[in-house]
Amino acid sequence: MAGLRERSATVEAQFDAIVGAADPPLVVVTAAAGSHRAGCLVGFHCQSSIEPRLYCVLLSKANHTYRVARHADCLAVHFLTEADMHLARHFGELTGDRVDKFADLEVIEGPGGVPVLRQCANWLAGPRSGLLDEGGDHVYAVIHPAAVSAAGPFRPLRASAAAHLTPGHPTSDSEDATG
Ligand SMILES: Cc1cc2nc3c(=O)[nH]c(=O)nc-3n(C[C@H](O)[C@H](O)[C@H](O)COP(=O)(O)O)c2cc1C
Repeated sequence: MAGLRERSATVEAQFDAIVGAADPPLVVVTAAAGSHRAGCLVGFHCQSSIEPRLYCVLLSKANHTYRVARHADCLAVHFLTEADMHLARHFGELTGDRVDKFADLEVIEGPGGVPVLRQCANWLAGPRSGLLDEGGDHVYAVIHPAAVSAAGPFRPLRASAAAHLTPGHPTSDSEDATG
């Protein structure tokens, strides 16, 4: 099995091609712990169970949001639309290590005090289960939705539309990333 886990430039290039072609929608994940609020743009996320309904997000170990989420009971996931590029830039290019991303944003309190962005009509929020670290540079958080807002069909903002953004924290910033 060890040999099967060795890296190959060809496998990685083809992996990148498939995943890039899938062009996932983008979300903003927010968290709060004590007086600390955090949120970042996330492309790694999906529904992870039908019964019960569960939703999984992956947070980079490099991010301020990950560090706050570790101490947060609840997380919120905001589904961005094609009109939300300004939010993608705000949450994807800035880091809570340097700025308060919530200073000029209207938020309401979701379950467990998690900040919910008023600008987003489509979101889910609820308690998270433990963070799963599979040894890569991102960890998995599973959310048990306790509150959901669905405003009807929308055209998601996709990763291809945000390819020009420069992440506030490259994953290489992670102190304990091994992936
Ligand atoms: C298109 C795009 C997709 C991203 N996907 C993720 C992701 O899935 N998970 C994650 O933790 N960060 C992801 N990021 C990176 C963070 O959004 C970015 O580094 C942010 O500035 C971190 O903010 P923070 O330090 O305040 O948490 C993505 C960034 C971009 C531009």
